[in-house]
Amino acid sequence: MSQPSELPPLKAIPGSYGHRFFGPYADRFDYFYRQGTEEFFRSRVNKYGSTVFRVNMPPGPFVSPDPKVVVVLDATSFPVLFDTSKVEKRNVLDGTFMPSTDYMGGTRVCAFLDPSEPSHTANKRFIFYLLHSWHDTLVPLFRNSMQDFFVRLDDAFSAKGEAYFNSFSDQMSFDFILRLFCRKDPSETSISYKTFDKWLFLQLSPLITTKPLKILDVLEDLLLHTFPLPTFLVKSDYKKMYEVFYASNTEALGEAEKLGLGKKDACNNLVFLAGFSAYGGMKTTFPALIKWIGKAGEGLHRQLAEEIRTVVRSEGGVTLGALEKMPLTKSVVYEALRMEPPVPFQYGKAKEDIIIHSSDGSAYEIKKGEMIFGYQPFATRDPNVFKRAEEFVGDRFVGPEGEKMLRYVYWSNGRETENPTVENKQCPGKDMVVLLCRVMVVEFFLRYDTFMVESGTLALGSTVTFKSLSKATSH
Ligand code: HEM
Repeated sequence: MSQPSELPPLKAIPGSYGHRFFGPYADRFDYFYRQGTEEFFRSRVNKYGSTVFRVNMPPGPFVSPDPKVVVVLDATSFPVLFDTSKVEKRNVLDGTFMPSTDYMGGTRVCAFLDPSEPSHTANKRFIFYLLHSWHDTLVPLFRNSMQDFFVRLDDAFSAKGEAYFNSFSDQMSFDFILRLFCRKDPSETSISYKTFDKWLFLQLSPLITTKPLKILDVLEDLLLHTFPLPTFLVKSDYKKMYEVFYASNTEALGEAEKLGLGKKDACNNLVFLAGFSAYGGMKTTFPALIKWIGKAGEGLHRQLAEEIRTVVRSEGGVTLGALEKMPLTKSVVYEALRMEPPVPFQYGKAKEDIIIHSSDGSAYEIKKGEMIFGYQPFATRDPNVFKRAEEFVGDRFVGPEGEKMLRYVYWSNGRETENPTVENKQCPGKDMVVLLCRVMVVEFFLRYDTFMVESGTLALGSTVTFKSLSKATSH
């Protein structure tokens, strides 16, 4: 949506924060236990008749020093969070609190740095270097890891008549990441995907609910959301992760030194990239991808299988060139990222007084120092921008008109039509992630004609269970 040329009158931002302690506590209880995430936002949009409003975001006391935020929930206001001239992105990766740097070996890693901090540039350059160095091995390594994954999946399915996707997917992502970052077979190391899981859980616990029985709500809230969990619980695990990455990245760490980063800081960044950004990201991305494609049904599966098998046959394999020639495959990946952005929360602190516009044409002023928060699934399902916004439309992004809509796909903390740079906070792994999702879809439809899934929700993201898997009848 373009910005209106004449400014509408400014509206007061609706909503309130309530009492200093009880307000955030009540909002947290609504968010985790009484309403759940979607209903938490939806009920307030309805109550205020606005996609911009004030609320406290969890965790609140005593983990967040200040949980007050201005929420933006539509496609027009949301991109203010990408404008690093207007918002500060210092220490806001996890929201209104910053986990202890003990989880990062004592380093404030790249994802917590604002682009105005000089080390952000050096770190992001280091990541661009890594991505470049992986260029040739990326797809073959991922395909290898997927072959192991399919063996496990088929075995489990034959044994039980159904198979839980998430744990096989996590295992596959871990194997792939270790092969990519460390050129090591995971079995040669002292860490496993459970090491990453434990480390992620401890630092993200203030944002997680395990959805316990109702009578245990207060207890869980006290344990997970009221005080940060002690970092010593993961100290020896972190040491193991660090040692694995340090020992197998001599060349990359040398390159980091040339960019002005100390080896220790660079290695802490490597661990975070592998365990949090890549593994943590894939943990929610892949289940969402397979869930939405699975639920779209046999008609779409037939079209995907046809496109993929025809191109792979004519190109002689799953090459980068072949992947470029699959418009429907590309589109379903973008559509899954639109329907269920893998990292649904984005934060930024206003660097100055800012006027924002929402999709219904209203304008609001956010004051310098206020925290802006976007819940992305509402922005990427904005009915003012997308037709049938709540539906998964497999071919939505096919053709020139469809491709224009990619500017409203925000999963990478930026528009899909823009690129990560040292000045912005867009995910440098953006193209790699989209590529891997395409390879995953290709591998699925080379192997199966169709499949049925059942899905649910998890502490972070979706669960997927295969209820049927029909092997490919043609190639
Ligand atoms: C499926 C996997 C991934 C997902 C879903 C994902 C998502 C994101 C998102 C949403 C952000 C913005 C966070 C914010 O500031 O609000 C981000 C930032 C970042 N991502 Fe990714 N990412 C993934 C994979 C990767 C990979 C493979 C790498 C690098 C190897 C990477 C490196 C980073 C870094 C360094 C940042 C911070 C950028 C900066 O400080 O300018 N990510 N990612």
